[in-house]
Amino acid sequence: MHRILIDTDPGVDDALAILLTMKSPELRVEAITTVSGNVHVEQATQNLLTILGVLELSEFPIVAKGEAQPLIKPLVKAEHVHGEDGLGNISKLRNSDGSLRYPLANCEISTLAGVDLILEMVDRYSEELIVVALGPLTNISRAIQKDAESMQKLRSIVLMGGVFREYGNVTTTAEFNIFVDPHAAHEVFNFGIPVHIAPLDVTHQVVLTGERLNAEIKGRSDKISCFLIESTQACMEFYREHIGFYGLHIHDALPVGMLTHPAFFESVDANVQVETEGNLTSGMTVADLRRERQGTISNASVCVQVESDTFLNHFFQRVLS
Ligand code: RIB
Ligand code: CA
Repeated sequence: MHRILIDTDPGVDDALAILLTMKSPELRVEAITTVSGNVHVEQATQNLLTILGVLELSEFPIVAKGEAQPLIKPLVKAEHVHGEDGLGNISKLRNSDGSLRYPLANCEISTLAGVDLILEMVDRYSEELIVVALGPLTNISRAIQKDAESMQKLRSIVLMGGVFREYGNVTTTAEFNIFVDPHAAHEVFNFGIPVHIAPLDVTHQVVLTGERLNAEIKGRSDKISCFLIESTQACMEFYREHIGFYGLHIHDALPVGMLTHPAFFESVDANVQVETEGNLTSGMTVADLRRERQGTISNASVCVQVESDTFLNHFFQRVLS
């Protein structure tokens, strides 16, 4: 069993990752912190409560709102991909009696700032704690800046971010999470604790098509099935128009799978650096992933391969269980 803290900018694929996490008995979610990314952190925090509400939990992780702005760069968001509210615009949906289709979970938001909750969890669980980072790395880097000694106790950070041998999804060279806060990523990659990265190179291998989703939830009317359909439609429409198929990549679910089912994945050690100043290349992750170059001092393990059909089957088996 792994004790984890999730740092997230929900976000449609973050929502899918959180559903998978909360349905994974191998993981004990002690806390969840939110950060600005896909949407502003205020909206991200509301979205997190909506996602937790879908799960109808008897007990909740501690939830805290994190940083609103990247360390240095101006905030760039992705409502055009995830919908105005960041969750496929489901927060406005109402039942015939006027009640909210997806009411917020009855879960208190901590009075602690997200960065302070991260530091409190590190103090409480030390080398047992793993951070699963699904958005820009602003909160993690702020926690390092505030108390590096404590953060050195962290077991590891498993994150979705970066791209190495493909094009980026924000610019030609940069993936969104790293692009939004490249300075934070630079700090995290060079801090010295184990970092495991799920880049676009591997998340692009797992495609959730509308057809597959419809087939999986056929005949079901439970809350999670309705949420999966309604929260993903806007994103799938964006993909149809801009990427060329009706579906989406479940990017943020992959770091979760790397923790619960490492056998589905293959990684290489590498030295990963981040371009923070380039006009054309800001947010680019730079590493030599050729196995023969393994002699260099590595600072991260980069996932390069996934058994995509197996992982997608596993995703549905868990989330719809
Ligand atoms: O590039 C994909 C990443 O950016 C995912 O985490 C998605 O949620 C967005 O934050
Ligand atoms: Ca995300």
